[in-house]
Amino acid sequence: MKELADYQRKIMITGGAGFIGSNLLLYMLDKYPGYLFVNVDKLTYAGNLASLKAVEDRDNYVFAKGDIIDSEFIDKLFHDYLIDGVINLAAESHVDRSIMGPAPFLKTNILGTFNLLEAGRKYMTGRQSFRFHQISTDEVFGSLGPEGHFKEDSGYSPSSPYAASKASGDHFVQVYHKTYGLDAVISNSSNNFGPYQFPEKLIPLMIYNGLKGKPLPVYGDGCQVRDWLYVVDHCHAIDLVFHKGLPGKTYNIGANNEIKNIDLVKMICAILDDLTGEAGHFELIRLVEDRPGHDRRYAIDASLIRNELGWKPAHNLEEDLRETVKWYLDHTDWIEACVTGEYKNYYNKWYAKRLGG
Ligand code: NAD
Ligand code: DAU
Repeated sequence: MKELADYQRKIMITGGAGFIGSNLLLYMLDKYPGYLFVNVDKLTYAGNLASLKAVEDRDNYVFAKGDIIDSEFIDKLFHDYLIDGVINLAAESHVDRSIMGPAPFLKTNILGTFNLLEAGRKYMTGRQSFRFHQISTDEVFGSLGPEGHFKEDSGYSPSSPYAASKASGDHFVQVYHKTYGLDAVISNSSNNFGPYQFPEKLIPLMIYNGLKGKPLPVYGDGCQVRDWLYVVDHCHAIDLVFHKGLPGKTYNIGANNEIKNIDLVKMICAILDDLTGEAGHFELIRLVEDRPGHDRRYAIDASLIRNELGWKPAHNLEEDLRETVKWYLDHTDWIEACVTGEYKNYYNKWYAKRLGG
């Protein structure tokens, strides 16, 4: 590591060992060799340092294992590294888990966010510039009917404990901007897909189960709609919002890739048939008991970030879904390491009822 003064910026990325966080670090470390990045991650079941193997020895990268709800730990990092920017991705992120046990969601997503904001408030004076970027979700808006899109001024109407905890975190971010003048921005994105996603989420779960010849559980009638965004496009958007977003503003991020879950799962089956040379993945699909409070449709209007910050997605669902399936086929070690241990208990509990096993 160089002297701190030699880095143009010192940025804390929380949750950097998770799906979006690791993709973001890989992206940012290449793009900003003059910045220092401090990755703060508790390494829950969802955190995986193997995703960051390619960058772990860079001299502008530091890993600090710890919990964002531990204020002493966070304060020390702010102090020791002269942190002048936070991109907060650390979260409990899985809706089904939040239904089974909401408490950790409240702790990390609300108290953890609050803690980082407090550190920001304490240290923002005396730092040349300070920015807090909250990575949030379209789930805070609740469900859409058959028409329309979420806009930045859509009302918050969360349906799951996960979404409620993210909504609460966002409210605190807005309050810290309005009340204390903290330079803060929020971005709300739609469902991400791509490499390094934990295989409890729809796309990697279907790929993994498909490869193993296990059932592909689709909730309810499978006609819920999600609006998919390739994770690298999201990283580019985060970069723009962090650097150029206006203080106090919210930006929606989505790539106009609306599709029903059942149609997406069928696409994955067709890709699996093709890439493995084995037919029959469609026959593994099972319609199972629905997720309680399941939002029917999400769709993002991303015109603000397109018009104001010049963002546009470079990837599309069809091509990049194929690339994503290939990535998981080529990284079976990565995925096998995820599905051992604690994950098995979760999977067995949640799906036993649904799959009747
Ligand atoms: P993830 O579950 O893959 O990763 C979360 C990371 O946070 C893990 O590395 C975990 O170890 C870490 N973490 C959890 N609790 C922590 C704590 N108390 N202290 C420190 N680290 C902790 O999640 P993801 O899918 O990468 O999502 C990242 C962020 O983006 C979340 O805030 C999520 O709400 C948001 N988001 C995700 C999506 C999506 O489709 N995945 C879409 C919109 C927004
Ligand atoms: O919209 C953004 C959100 O996307 C993020 O905020 C969350 O962190 C992220 O987990 C994701 O939430 P979803 O609940 O939409 O993602 P998930 O992959 O769990 O489910 C996607 C859709 O697929 C949803 O409608 C539920 C359905 N589903 C999911 C699983 C895991 C199934 O039908 N079967 C399954 O086994």
